[in-house]
Amino acid sequence: MSVLNGKKILLGVSGGIAAYKTASLVRLFIKAGAHVQVIMTPASKDFVTPLTLSTLSKNPVHSSFFNQDDEDAVWNNHVELGLWADLMLIAPATANTLSKMATGNCDNLLIATYLSAKCPVYFAPAMDLDMYKHPSTISSFNALKQFGNIIIPAEKGELASGLSGEGRMAEPENIVAFLEADLESKLPLKGKKILITAGPTYEAIDPVRFIGNHSSGKMGFDIANQAANLGAEVILVSGPTHFRVKNSSIEVISVMSAQEMYEACHKYYENVDVAIAAAAVADYRPKEVALQKIKKNAEEFSIELEKTKDILFSLGAAKKDQFLIGFALETENEIENAKLKIQKKNLDLIVLNSLQDAGAGFKKETNKVTFIDKNFNIEPMELKSKEFVAVDILNKVVSHFLKS
Ligand code: CTP
Repeated sequence: MSVLNGKKILLGVSGGIAAYKTASLVRLFIKAGAHVQVIMTPASKDFVTPLTLSTLSKNPVHSSFFNQDDEDAVWNNHVELGLWADLMLIAPATANTLSKMATGNCDNLLIATYLSAKCPVYFAPAMDLDMYKHPSTISSFNALKQFGNIIIPAEKGELASGLSGEGRMAEPENIVAFLEADLESKLPLKGKKILITAGPTYEAIDPVRFIGNHSSGKMGFDIANQAANLGAEVILVSGPTHFRVKNSSIEVISVMSAQEMYEACHKYYENVDVAIAAAAVADYRPKEVALQKIKKNAEEFSIELEKTKDILFSLGAAKKDQFLIGFALETENEIENAKLKIQKKNLDLIVLNSLQDAGAGFKKETNKVTFIDKNFNIEPMELKSKEFVAVDILNKVVSHFLKS
């Protein structure tokens, strides 16, 4: 999945021949799953039509401060547009537009929006080779770089003037690749490895029966997806579930029993930076597993159970500098029991679910959790969807690395 998926991109088009390539650029952004709004300078409309870009972006194109054709002229709010965007890209960025950006010469909607944008701004210059090398252009580049804007360098090749050299706007595919690489390199968990457990475990009784539980696996899968969205390398060890990961970079290890989950976790644990145990692991398993299907002959029948290994406990015992997060599902003395669990399992953070909260727990879309850290700081959270609980959990991971 592209890092641009779900991103709100504001594309500013200025008036150069390369503007015709923005049709492909918008198409590529939409294909990557981004939301796109386009602002055009008046001059750019000679090179590509607003209708083309509004059709491709699935949004109206903005080009003046108000819509002159409207009887009750509607104001195009540049501040709102600037705040809407996750990133702004000026492509093509002509020498004229670059100079206006550098000096704040705000005589069109594109520049007004640029000055209002709080998001990262990228620009892809396009001009003739001598213009590209002119000290005035270079001083615009330097000013913009100083503002924190990011240049997507022009490419070499045949230019509209008939000359050949540096100045062609980067090809749309290369602009997309540049943005993806830049955004990925800045993801807060880039370079971190995270091990996550999810789902129930099934403990075999015989070849057709097992002891299991109602865990759907959703919480663990949401955590895995969010960790991958933040750039982490994710290993998800999951018991049986119908969930599928949304990000193909996640390595999924499918297991059945607590023992298989234990072995898979320890195979990876030594080399991870974070481990999050969201699985509902069976605490007991049949002592003997019948090799053949058990016949219903006897009137009464009992199965002798033995304890499974506590995976989280074993991870806590083997901990070097991994940041270790566990879950607790308590029905009474929640906070005190959770604190004991932090100490017993050597955790850095526990995510406490209380079954007393409506909307929390197994087979629910929502969860209400309380975070307790190893210093016993307690932070109750609102009831929210499991996806947003996952966001909160990963925010804890991000702030751990910011502090350390
Ligand atoms: N856990 C685990 N392996 C087990 C049992 C639990 O890794 N065999 C993990 C769960 O993934 C969860 C945490 O331990 O992160 C807490 O599990 P919970 O069932 O609440 O607590 P228990 O330790 O089983 O303790 P108790 O039954 O005494 O409440």
